[in-house]
Amino acid sequence: MTSWLNNISPGLAAAWHPVLRSSDLGETSRRIDLLGEPWVITRLNGSFTAFVDKCPHRNARLSDGMVVGDTLQCPYHGWRFDGTGHCTLIPALGVGATVPPTAQLKPAHVTERYDLIWIAPETPRAEIIDIAEWTDDSLHKVWMPAIDINATAAQFIDNFLDFGHFPFVHAGTFGSAEDSNISDYNVDKTNDGWGFIVDYPHSIANKEDPLVASGQHPLVQPRNMVYTFQAPFSANLHLELPLTGVVNAIATFCQPMTESTTRLYTVMLRSDGASATAAQAAIEYEYSVLQEDLVVIEHLWDNEIALGVGQAHSRADRNTVEFRRILARLLEP
Ligand code: FES
Ligand SMILES: [Fe+2]
Repeated sequence: MTSWLNNISPGLAAAWHPVLRSSDLGETSRRIDLLGEPWVITRLNGSFTAFVDKCPHRNARLSDGMVVGDTLQCPYHGWRFDGTGHCTLIPALGVGATVPPTAQLKPAHVTERYDLIWIAPETPRAEIIDIAEWTDDSLHKVWMPAIDINATAAQFIDNFLDFGHFPFVHAGTFGSAEDSNISDYNVDKTNDGWGFIVDYPHSIANKEDPLVASGQHPLVQPRNMVYTFQAPFSANLHLELPLTGVVNAIATFCQPMTESTTRLYTVMLRSDGASATAAQAAIEYEYSVLQEDLVVIEHLWDNEIALGVGQAHSRADRNTVEFRRILARLLEP
């Protein structure tokens, strides 16, 4: 069994990963990093297509090439590949010439969800996370800019799911009123076995509430918090503040780029996000919360999390222990 997990653990190939905002793929190809490898994302014959960004001829970057008809043309000797990865033309041999069987690219599985392009290099084992709030018309979608961090996707999700760190790491934002004591809570597996839900009501310092300054609302307010996790690296945090009536779901999807860097795509689905001013305020607040987390997780000693022995756990960590169990299963051959 794999005992440690990082961004390039081989088993992660059999999973969906977000690689690009759909709107960021124009007419040209884009180069992205996933699981320590460069990939080219392009649109061929109307469909999103993803290949490892290396021409099988002499390793040129296909992402520097161009789309010609329904094919991607390599910038070096002009070999053309269709959406299935089949080489349709070697210009040096002329039209109709026999193409060597090794002149072939292997396409990844590609799909679009939540305005993101997702790819799976091998047949994915788990479905993409279900974000129920996505189709709720009472909630406004507020996208954070994509953010690159110097930590692995597993370290980021481990932190995202963890609530024992609030009073220590988030004392500058919402965590100042947090009781460091974690009450018992349940980790309920989702039906497909690749995720879980944790319901944890608690209290926070609500620094986003404008009525706190005028004394109409107390700073410390109850907050209902429901986490949904789905393998490998997606999570949704549904927050409800009964005093203000605000609903805010924070959905976060990680792209493990290199061995130690990860791109975060985060969308907030907020009841109070209608105006540009409110949306910007929400982005800035969430960004300040993220910065508090990054101070710690970008300073962890290594790029791995233990899936078996190797890290100590307490009863308060049962959600992040379940996270490790699910990932260990995902990585099993
Ligand atoms: S390296 Fe791509 S065609 Fe030669
Ligand atoms: Fe945090």
